[in-house]
Amino acid sequence: MKIHGTVRNEEIAGAVSRAEQYLQRKGVEEKMRLSVRVALEEILLICRSAADEAAEFELDIRKGFGEILCSLSVSGPEVGPDLADGEILRRLFSASLLPEPRREYRNGRNRFVLTVPLYDTTFHNLKFAWSYVRQYRKTFFFAIGCQWLNVILSIVAPILSARIIIAYSDSQIRQIILTAIAIFFVNAVSNLSLYFCNTRYNMVYTRLLSDMENDLASSTLRITGSCMDSKGTGLFIQRLTADTSTLATGFNTIADLLSQMFRYIGILIAMLIVSPPVFFVVLLLLAGQIAIELIRTRRLMEDDRIHRNAAERFSGFVSEMVHGVSDIKVLNSENAFQEEVVKRIEDANNSYMHMLMKSWKYKLSRWGVGEAGRLVFTCLLAVLILKYGMAPALALVLFNYYSELGAPAVLILGQFLEFLKNFDLSTERVCAIMNNPEFPKERFGQTHLESVRGEIRFEHVNARYESHDPRFPNRDILKDMSFVIPAGTTAAFVGRSGCGKSTVLRLISRLIRNTGGTIFLDGTDISTLDRESIRGNMTVVSQAPYLFHLSVRDNLRLVKPDLTEEEMVEACRAARIADDIERMPQKYDTVIGEGGVDLSGGQRQRLAIARCLLRDSSIILLDEATSSLDNVTQAEILKALEEHRKDRTVIMIAHRLSTVVHADMILFVEDGKILDFGTHQELLERCGSYRQLYEQEIRPV
Ligand SMILES: Nc1ncnc2c1ncn2[C@@H]1O[C@H](COP(=O)(O)OP(=O)(O)OP(=O)(O)O)[C@@H](O)[C@H]1O
Ligand SMILES: [Mg+2]
Repeated sequence: MKIHGTVRNEEIAGAVSRAEQYLQRKGVEEKMRLSVRVALEEILLICRSAADEAAEFELDIRKGFGEILCSLSVSGPEVGPDLADGEILRRLFSASLLPEPRREYRNGRNRFVLTVPLYDTTFHNLKFAWSYVRQYRKTFFFAIGCQWLNVILSIVAPILSARIIIAYSDSQIRQIILTAIAIFFVNAVSNLSLYFCNTRYNMVYTRLLSDMENDLASSTLRITGSCMDSKGTGLFIQRLTADTSTLATGFNTIADLLSQMFRYIGILIAMLIVSPPVFFVVLLLLAGQIAIELIRTRRLMEDDRIHRNAAERFSGFVSEMVHGVSDIKVLNSENAFQEEVVKRIEDANNSYMHMLMKSWKYKLSRWGVGEAGRLVFTCLLAVLILKYGMAPALALVLFNYYSELGAPAVLILGQFLEFLKNFDLSTERVCAIMNNPEFPKERFGQTHLESVRGEIRFEHVNARYESHDPRFPNRDILKDMSFVIPAGTTAAFVGRSGCGKSTVLRLISRLIRNTGGTIFLDGTDISTLDRESIRGNMTVVSQAPYLFHLSVRDNLRLVKPDLTEEEMVEACRAARIADDIERMPQKYDTVIGEGGVDLSGGQRQRLAIARCLLRDSSIILLDEATSSLDNVTQAEILKALEEHRKDRTVIMIAHRLSTVVHADMILFVEDGKILDFGTHQELLERCGSYRQLYEQEIRPV
């Protein structure tokens, strides 16, 4: 299938969804379709950021035998040697398990060839986990070697024990001593191998866990703000903790279970050698139990998915409850909250209970088959001893082998299947955060601005938030908005609540993306700029700034790691928070929040302003940053900001017009549009709505 177009947002979206539909028609499973879709979209967007929107692309996508072939060529300059945003792509391709595309630059076109093998899901997931294990493979294989040595020795040991019994009954002293020495060495090597195997597995596990958690945390940090808002915290907490742990144990557990299964295969071979009839009877009994186990794990997969989603909803709710506990109390809504908590606990527990009950039913029937088998097996051994003269010591070894095989082998197989099921589910949930379009990532371009003066220009900008509820269609919050804020000026956005002021700041700081028009920073399209050029040159202070559960000093150090004592005190003085800090129990080392000193709304704002003053950024965005302060403190802080400002661009939003009257430029926003702009005096003369707002403030009704 061939698709042509230009790299405009809408055309990219259309092309990748047509490619996905094509793969769906060809019967490619959903996970693989999504991976290919994300990969194509990512490459096209990176090419777009290197060229412009008029660049053309040509995509040829085909499903061959056991693979998908994508050949993509995009006009424009060559994208960086590591695909511009190499880090994003490395993560993308390792999370989606797609091989990195082959690329070349010829005749003014970037060409990418992506060949995607079609694997079974578990294989796919194992490959994903392997991409992490690979760097520790030496330690891992050493652990496997030790484990298998231990398994082989554990098969040999019972035979040696049987020999010693036979030697005892024949009173062969030399034989007894030799066998006892052999047993000693076998046990010594067996224990040593167990020691090395476990310590090395633990080492691999802890390293894998931290690598995976790191990657997942960094993917989470790159997810767009609106997606984070809509998903809630529970989902991320569960996946970052529980699912990564299942994934990190993946190879260790699989290796462990495989080695145990290998042990059972070894036992079966030993049985076949000792007594073929016994071997065939045991094989038959095992087949029955294994069949039950296979059905059990298949049926439980869906139940487990339902349970994990319920657990996610519960933990998300609990985390919100803990954050909002004071509001819940003063709203006197403890009962309503309690009811909701109970409902969610019940949902989570009922789904778990349902899963357990079902699982136990299968386990019971498996146990029944196993025990009936033991009865048959015991009778068979009796016949072999009495009628066919089998040595009782050998019969005892066979009996012990069966005891180990009958129940535990099936149990291990069950555990193995169950683990693979958990492993698949966890990988799915972790990979979703890393590369599923359900969790869209922030995207930046590759143009780097060495120094930013701070001119901001909007040209016919539209913006909207995606609605997650089909009952509420998406609507444009900003409509065809155009303005220029020259570098070094102080501009203020005013307007009624909900008119779109904060949305403008979110667009400038690239927390959300515009759906139409273009935003320029120093004359360069912001969508082509890299992260550092945008975020490295902006500081945002919001109405309710987030302070971390760290000391005052560490909170400030987050924005300036090489912070000196003088700089810290100076910034806090300018932000009028130094006196408050001096009164705290451990001054600048006092921990804020949870278990430490809780700050008032105004103190938080002042500390956030101190944090802002420490950052040497060319653009300062203040979203009602002084709303909790009294007029005198606000005036003092604005003065400090003015001094700090020098030639910086300051964009502020304030409901109190007194905060912004001195701004060089005031932009009055109404219903997502700039109604008028100018100085305070100009707007008072020209703009009726502004005048009305101002008069209401000085003469409230
Ligand atoms: N994350 C979001 N998801 C969906 N809609 C949103 C989101 N954030 C804001 N909106 C909607 O966008 C519109 C503009 O919001 P915005 O925060 O820009 O208003 P504002 O002018 O800053 O208001 P206020 O003065 O009350 O802070 C509002 O109608 C709001 O409901
Ligand atoms: Mg706002």
